Amino acid sequence: GCRTVILISGSGSNLQAFIDTLHPEQADIVAVISNRADAYGLERAARAGIPHAVLSHRDYPDRASYDQALAALIDSYQPELVILAGFMRILTPGFVSHYLGRLLNIHPSLLPKYTGLHTHQRALEAGDSEHGATVHFVTEELDGGPAIMQSHVPVLPDDTADSLAERVRNTEHRLYPLAASLYIEGRLRLENGRALLDGSPLPASGL
Ligand code: GAR
Repeated sequence: GCRTVILISGSGSNLQAFIDTLHPEQADIVAVISNRADAYGLERAARAGIPHAVLSHRDYPDRASYDQALAALIDSYQPELVILAGFMRILTPGFVSHYLGRLLNIHPSLLPKYTGLHTHQRALEAGDSEHGATVHFVTEELDGGPAIMQSHVPVLPDDTADSLAERVRNTEHRLYPLAASLYIEGRLRLENGRALLDGSPLPASGL
């Protein structure tokens, strides 16, 4: 399958969705890399027999040197696709350009709304009636790359940031492997800053 490296920082429930829903003949997850040693996703990788590694940002003096070491580690697995799955680091332009067109992220908002952190709290405070998640190609602009696919959930009257986060995350587990499978099938590409599906530009909000 498509040689895939998955980067995580935490629980790794999206990683688990890839493990559970994509056959190795589709996505061959050749490594899971975390910037945090305590990420629960590392246990998920271990349980699934997937090679995993920790590369702590604390061992590097600055963002550029960390990203350089990270890219060297990723490249040692010769991936065709790199998946950011709750990887909570801002990436340098050098890193992004090295993987341009084969680097995907999932962000817990209906981009372009709420780039950055605390997306669920911000959707609640804005009084939004719907919220969701976006899979997108990663470009130099933080959470600004072209959208591939979005999931939508209602915001309910009694929601807290946690209840809303859980509702969104449950949709991510279907959304992300599905979007990745389009890439793996060769149907999706990044061209001139736009996401193309079967050669045609996707709408700004993705599928
Ligand atoms: C997911 O909700 C993902 O959208 C979000 O982190 C969570 C990771 O959960 N990503 C970001 O906020 C990226 N800036 P997981 O570790 O259980 O997959």
